Amino acid sequence: MDETALREAICAHGRLLFGRGYSVGSAGNISVRLPDGYLMTPTNSSLGRLEAARISKLDTEWRHVSGDKPSKEVFMHRAVLTARPEAGAVVHLHSTHATAIGCLATPGEDAPIPPLTPYFVMRIGRRLPVIRYYRPGDAAMEGDIHEASKGARAVLLANHGPVVSGSTLDDAVYAAEELEEAARLALLLRGLPARELTPEQVDDLLNTFG
Ligand code: 13P
Repeated sequence: MDETALREAICAHGRLLFGRGYSVGSAGNISVRLPDGYLMTPTNSSLGRLEAARISKLDTEWRHVSGDKPSKEVFMHRAVLTARPEAGAVVHLHSTHATAIGCLATPGEDAPIPPLTPYFVMRIGRRLPVIRYYRPGDAAMEGDIHEASKGARAVLLANHGPVVSGSTLDDAVYAAEELEEAARLALLLRGLPARELTPEQVDDLLNTFG
């Protein structure tokens, strides 16, 4: 996809995510890697009403070069995109159920959501590290997210929300959607004798779908 198409795709995905309540108000942000830098949603923008021409553009050194002022979470996106050279996009949401899991007193360090469904395993993988609470926009979060992202496609920010990467924008959005649904299932099943996928079934999924 060229830059024009990617700008339109960010707006289209933003509208769909917002329309289903995966982000509310001006929460959430999206970034996409380009050959000459990055596209990022502007700060304080609603994902439901993005305008392609106003999306922020940053150069390869993460300097703002055009469009509106970028998201204050630029450090969060940089942390993931520099840790995962194979990632082409990052989606950060405050989606309700994933955020709820991140608000649990003891969410579990690396696997706060159990492997209940194949698509959660296929899209997110084995690990979902929980990152300790940082104030939104705090540059200090970059190191922790960077380290955790080396071995995980997604991380969960305590009391804040998920940060999900993918090889393409579509992949990152699909993974963020699966993460939210898996979190919803995990909460629905809390206290019930749920049947989790076995380690062998998880291995089989990862060996088959990567
Ligand atoms: P921005 O409006 O700066 O993108 O911040 C929104 C957000 O989700 C903070 O975590």
